[in-house]
This record gives sequence, C-alpha cells and structure tokens, in this order.
Amino acid sequence: MGNKVERFFKIGCFCIMMISALNVGAQNLINGKKIFETRCLACHQSDGGGVPNMNPPLDGSTNVNGKDIARMVKIIQNGYDERVALDGMYYNNAMIAMPDLKEDAIADVLSYIRNSWSNKAGLVTLAEVKKSISKNKVNKK
Ligand code: HEC
Repeated sequence: MGNKVERFFKIGCFCIMMISALNVGAQNLINGKKIFETRCLACHQSDGGGVPNMNPPLDGSTNVNGKDIARMVKIIQNGYDERVALDGMYYNNAMIAMPDLKEDAIADVLSYIRNSWSNKAGLVTLAEVKKSISKNKVNKK
C-alpha cells in the first residue's frame, strides 16, 4: 500500500517537473522573441535572414548554432565591428553595444535565435550567460 502511494507521488512529482521544465523553455522563447523584435529585428530582419553585405543572417549561421556562447554574449554586450568573414561573407554595418540588456534577457534572446527559423541548437541558460561574462572578463585582461 505505502509503496503504491509513494510511487504515485514520485511519478506525479516527475510529471510536474517535466511540465514546468517545458514551460520555462517556452516562456524563455516568448521573452526572447520580444527582445529580438525590439532590439535585433531592424538589422537581422524578422526571418533572421539579415541584409546582404550589411547585416549577417542569424538563420543558418554556423556561429549562432555553434558552441561558443561566450562569443555571442560578448557581441551583444560590446557590439561587433570586426569585419571578418562570417560563413564566407563580409558585412559592413556595425552592431551596436547593448550594455543595458540584463543577463536573463541575453539568455532568452540567444535561446530564441538558436531555436528560430531553421536553427535547432540548445537553449542558453542564465548560468551559461553568467559563466560567459566572467570568462570574457578574464580574457580581456
Ligand atoms: C545596428 C544593427 C544591428 C543590431 C540592432 C543587431 N545586430 Fe547583430 N550584427 C550586426 C552586424 C553588422 C553584425 C556583423 C558585424 C561584423 O561583421 O563586423 C552582427 C553580428 C551578430 C552576430 C554574429 C553572427 C555570426 O554569424 O557570427 C550575432 C550572434 C548577432 N549579431 C546577434 C544579434 C542580436 C541577438 C541582436 C539583438 C539583441 C543583434 N544582433 C542586434 C548588426 C546588428
């Protein structure tokens, strides 16, 4: 008897955990979309396709789908005007710095761009953003 109740309880807890985990992901992506629309869309466009020769596409970008989260956090916080080849193309606009974007907003917008259009990369957590910021600080010295 006791065992049954315990098992029922454990399964129930597990289900609630899974549902809330999914909800957190969905909520992050909704926030990320809002941030994208207000802060990024003008340059990178709503379809993530960018503007040829000016602003790079985020859709299908090797870097956006890649593992270097710290680089993207740095780009958002400090801006980006390196004029290096991105997937073989050059872009002559400069990305503005956004030092006012909060850490959780950065996590949400990165999660959004990594999971929109044709992109299917992992979500970015607040912890990863925090880790990236301290890593970027150390590398600057
Ligand atoms: C003023 C236009 C502008 C805005 C606004 C802007 N970007 Fe950019 N972004 C650029 C440009 C231009 C580059 C490339 C700069 C270069 O090549 O030197 C870039 C590069 C990037 C890259 C690197 C892409 C790669 O393939 O390596 C990422 C990631 C990125 N932007 C994300 C964002 C996000 C997220 C936002 C909103 C929070 C944003 N950008 C807002 C213009 C912009």
